[in-house]
Amino acid sequence: MAVFEVNHPLVKHKLGLIRQHDISTKDFRELASEIARLLTYEATKDLETEPETITGWNGPVKVERIKGKKITVVPILRAGLGMMDGVLDLIPSARVSVVGLYRNEETLEPVAYYEKFTSNINDRTALILDPMLATGGSLVACINMLKKAGCTSIRGLFLVAVPEGIERVQKEHPDVDIYVASIDEKLNENGYILPGLGDAGDKIFGTK
Ligand code: URA
Repeated sequence: MAVFEVNHPLVKHKLGLIRQHDISTKDFRELASEIARLLTYEATKDLETEPETITGWNGPVKVERIKGKKITVVPILRAGLGMMDGVLDLIPSARVSVVGLYRNEETLEPVAYYEKFTSNINDRTALILDPMLATGGSLVACINMLKKAGCTSIRGLFLVAVPEGIERVQKEHPDVDIYVASIDEKLNENGYILPGLGDAGDKIFGTK
């Protein structure tokens, strides 16, 4: 498994803006989408292409088309939806598969309450979307669900992650690559990332 911290100047700049404590819902949403777009650019850099000849304005032209597995985007409800538009801007024909998880407050383990995968998921590369990779519990659960459904090519895109979450996923799913805008310091006692973004779901949806 590889972890890619995307250190592009635009990503750094946008992260600085999205961390502002009094950011509006509109600005948070827009920035989450913009950063997701930049992460998508990185996460698709190694997709293979194949030559094809089309008819251009002046006759036949050799062009390149993406080859092999197509993409399915997998937002983890609900915060992952805040990254979806940015990803679909670059991959407009991607199928969307959805995973809903909540945390059992006694065991603190994620429990799946919804799953709707695109057909032929075994023929697609899954891009899991979640703004925050904290303990890694939800991500591991989502990967388990995708693998159970037959998906063999999985990547995760996150705005912010912490080392302990990354380590957990690396240990349980060493084949899954991670693309993240920032690897932050640590989790606080309530499981929030520091310095982090606060509650990303609340900020995207304007709830409290
Ligand atoms: N989920 C969030 O929304 N924020 C965190 O810091 C951790 C998990």
